[in-house]
Amino acid sequence: MLTDEMKEAIEKNLVFVATASSDGTPNVVPIGFTRPIDNKRILIVDVFMKKTLNNLEENPRVSLIVQNAKEHPYQFKGTAKVFKSGKFFEEAVEWAQNVMSEVEPKSAILVTIEEIYSVKPGPDAGKRIK
Ligand SMILES: Cc1cc2nc3c(=O)[nH]c(=O)nc-3n(C[C@H](O)[C@H](O)[C@H](O)COP(=O)(O)O)c2cc1C
Repeated sequence: MLTDEMKEAIEKNLVFVATASSDGTPNVVPIGFTRPIDNKRILIVDVFMKKTLNNLEENPRVSLIVQNAKEHPYQFKGTAKVFKSGKFFEEAVEWAQNVMSEVEPKSAILVTIEEIYSVKPGPDAGKRIK
């Protein structure tokens, strides 16, 4: 589902992660630690999340856009699972601490991408592409 271009964009860009609470209040945050682990799943490191994590506990649906949407005009939608131990958590801790030794991740968030839409201005804006 994720092309090589999409995977590279997710890994190299800041990613905007949108969630919503159970009453539908939206929340969006910029996240640096985001990387694809295969063609469908994105690992996100939770170091500082508050509303985002609360929202994911109430409603696991997420939407993501990379900062450089001009070059990579995609809207990703999927479902998140939160891990506070186990292999995904350990991978998240190792990755984050290799970059910044002082950070203490609280959880690893694994997002399975289910739908991808174009946000490219023009006739294809909003069109589902995968
Ligand atoms: C450039 C930048 C990168 C960030 N990267 C991360 C990150 O990788 N992980 C994280 O948990 N928070 C990161 N944050 C913090 C979140 O954007 C946000 O402050 C945090 O989730 C609390 O907001 P919330 O209560 O809406 O979740 C980053 C913030 C900025 C400005």
